[in-house]
Amino acid sequence: MDRIRIVGGNALNGAIPISGAKNAALPLMIVGLLTDELLILENVPRLADVAQLQHILGNHGVDITMSGKRPGDSAYQGQTLHISAKRIVDTTAPYELVSKMRASFWVIAPLVARMGEARVSMPGGCAIGTRPVDLLITALEALGAEIEIDGGYVVARAPKGLRGGTIAFPKVTVSGTHVALMAASLAKGTTVIENAAREPEIVDVAECLGKMGARITGAGTSRIVIEGVPRLSGARHSVLPDRIETGTYAMAVAMTGGDVTLQGARPELLQSALDMVAQAGATVTPTNEGIRITRNGAGLSAVNVSTAPFPGFPTDLQAQLMALMTCARGTSRITETIFENRFMHVQELARLGARIHLEGDTATIEGIDRLKGAPVMATDLRASVSLVIAALAAEGETTVNRIYHLDRGFERLEDKLSACGAQIERVSG
Ligand code: EPZ
Repeated sequence: MDRIRIVGGNALNGAIPISGAKNAALPLMIVGLLTDELLILENVPRLADVAQLQHILGNHGVDITMSGKRPGDSAYQGQTLHISAKRIVDTTAPYELVSKMRASFWVIAPLVARMGEARVSMPGGCAIGTRPVDLLITALEALGAEIEIDGGYVVARAPKGLRGGTIAFPKVTVSGTHVALMAASLAKGTTVIENAAREPEIVDVAECLGKMGARITGAGTSRIVIEGVPRLSGARHSVLPDRIETGTYAMAVAMTGGDVTLQGARPELLQSALDMVAQAGATVTPTNEGIRITRNGAGLSAVNVSTAPFPGFPTDLQAQLMALMTCARGTSRITETIFENRFMHVQELARLGARIHLEGDTATIEGIDRLKGAPVMATDLRASVSLVIAALAAEGETTVNRIYHLDRGFERLEDKLSACGAQIERVSG
């Protein structure tokens, strides 16, 4: 199994191109199921999760081709996917596929909206908590789908089509909002989503649906209104830049010191995270090219933060901020409010010498002068990358094992960091 070997201590200097957002690319690919015409997605990151979803959609009969690279394209340019769901051959998403990637459960919405039926395996547990799908099911029921649980599968039926309705989410849910948007776009009549997620990836999906002929207003606010249409057409859409990748590299530069421009990054997608990076002691400057992060000399300051839905501090950057705080002056507190078990990185950061005390949903971090390299591993994507950030500043060598988690969500991580002066390499076998 591949590992990543890092020798810490080098400052990062240079430029890092930011890839398209994984968490927008995945629902956008699923949107392709809503139309029998061609959906062209540009700036899709080259990630294991994207390849896996390609495989899952293939099982429903979706034909996905990739444009080849043109002369002059850089290695970092995202890929262009041509998605054609002209003929859906199977409305079942089996356990073997759905259990590999939770987001694939979302195919239930376009399948029942377009085909009148879907049989999708429940995703099951995952490393960051129980992550149920009850809110997705109630959203579909509010649009008239009949739901039955049968042998571990959610069976959704709407033989006469879905109809508009009111969906009032009791808590903010990204997955619930994606599913509601997709289903309501093809429902008869008007749907109102109350307490909708406001994440930029929701806005990106709504924009793409709009290009396909959906009538959506209010995406990016907590009240979204959708006037259903009988059919959607093809479209061309470019995936927005990855705010979590942006925040991760911003924290890496804050950790090691240096001067890096995050090319193509958009500050408004992660203002709360950039505020934390600035509070911790780095300088954050929006530029024409993206976002420039610098930290020279001065030590890091401790910060306190709770994760929250957008525009709050994202749970997907909680582990990375914790890595940064391991070397801050003083005591910081980080509270995780979105997922109940998202602290797998704590034990592994402790292997590098970090002093972290965990109580309930809050981690208290006593900053130390320097971490020391060690072999580590993590069972989740963001936890794994937090270990990379810590290792970049640690004394000596760190080996990060089980890096297939990193490959799920970070495109060419080691290339991007080594181009900025990090001593990082992938070791095969
Ligand atoms: C999305 O997950 C992201 N995944 C996650 O990123 C991200 O951490 C999360 O949103 C929060 O921002 C993708 O976009 C593919 P939710 P999602 O529905 O949609 C509870 C990463 O590392 N809930 O907003 O599954 C749920 O358990 C990943 O890239 C219910 O109770 O998150 C959680 O506590 C990890 N019932 C809260 O809501 C439901 O039916 C928010 O979940 C659905 C969710």
